[in-house]
Amino acid sequence: MKTLHVELGDRRYPIHIGSGLLGRPELLCPPIPGRQVLVVSNTTVAPLYLERTRAALTGLRHEAVILPDGEQHKTLVVLNEVFTALLRHRFDRNCTIVALGGGVVGDMAGFAAACYQRGVHFIQIPTTLLAQVDSSVGGKTAVNHPLGKNMIGAFYQPRCVLADTDTLATLPDRELSAGLAEVIKYGLIRDLPFLEWLEANLDALLAREASALSEAIERSCRNKAEIVAADERETGERALLNLGHTFGHAIETGAGYGVWLHGEAVAVGMALAADLSARLGWLSEEQVGRILALLERARLPLTPPPDLTADDFSRLMAVDKKVQDGRLRLILLRGLGQGVIADGVDPVRLRETLEARR
Ligand code: NAD
Ligand code: GLY
Repeated sequence: MKTLHVELGDRRYPIHIGSGLLGRPELLCPPIPGRQVLVVSNTTVAPLYLERTRAALTGLRHEAVILPDGEQHKTLVVLNEVFTALLRHRFDRNCTIVALGGGVVGDMAGFAAACYQRGVHFIQIPTTLLAQVDSSVGGKTAVNHPLGKNMIGAFYQPRCVLADTDTLATLPDRELSAGLAEVIKYGLIRDLPFLEWLEANLDALLAREASALSEAIERSCRNKAEIVAADERETGERALLNLGHTFGHAIETGAGYGVWLHGEAVAVGMALAADLSARLGWLSEEQVGRILALLERARLPLTPPPDLTADDFSRLMAVDKKVQDGRLRLILLRGLGQGVIADGVDPVRLRETLEARR
């Protein structure tokens, strides 16, 4: 097992990464201050891992709430099921919510923890690659609104992240690829050696070789933990983690939540960001080619849905958390491993990218 920490002063917390962690009460129980635990999971993950998780909650009163599976259920209406369970079981302010699942469950359980009685304890047990490398770390929690993705939420840090790599064995291939999009993101925005490692080890990752997966998760979490420690509330550097996300959220919202996987939409978004960076003279064609080749090898899409026009993109991208005073901000690349926050991007070049569809 490897343990990293997110250094947030008295809210510092560990990220444990390794095999067989789900069944280890000595990891799960110490960060739980009270005796009441609500495990939040979904209809796919609960049959696979809920029993093992509950067995590790030794000496505690544990209940579970099972949400419907899918991005389309990441709503305030479904979130209410968590509050209903907490109230029904008469859980108090010292209770702990444990998220067992992918990013959807993690984001919803975390938002519930931030809201219930104005804040209760929270633990993340991520079970997708995407959640293990990104969404379980850093305290962003949210639900979607029909008009915009992740628009209703809070910054709320967990007390511990437990990433059991064994859970990835049951993950569908398409979901593994979606997780690789966020892994590649770290290489592109700030870690060229990691990007080169990914180019060399992508086949091992697709073959789910345990050592390759562990290394990719650890290096991703190390990057994310450093960024979050430096800029928890995204006043600066943390925005780099949104490479591809402004384009990607437009695709997810435009197509209807759940049609495109988040990681797939981010992959297309990163391809578009690379294209735009090249049009601005910041990336060479050879560098764009390397990015597209890596995404393609990861079995990720590179082009947006054909029915999403440049006008649709512009309209949907205007509803983005990085928009400030009506001005769009995009994360672009000034080289491989060098993300930048770009304000006031030339609208002509942006339009060219949205119309080009390489
Ligand atoms: P997801 O939570 O929908 O999980 C993907 C699918 O895999 C689901 O059907 C799920 O039930 C299933 N699944 C989960 N674990 C499994 C396992 N071990 N075996 C078999 N099936 C399993 O999607 P995701 O890709 O994990 O997360 C995407 C969500 O995360 C999006 O809503 C996105 O907005 C959010 N996100 C949040 C952050 C953040 O910082 N909070 C960062 C990135 C993404
Ligand atoms: N996934 C973006 C962030 O955590 O900031």
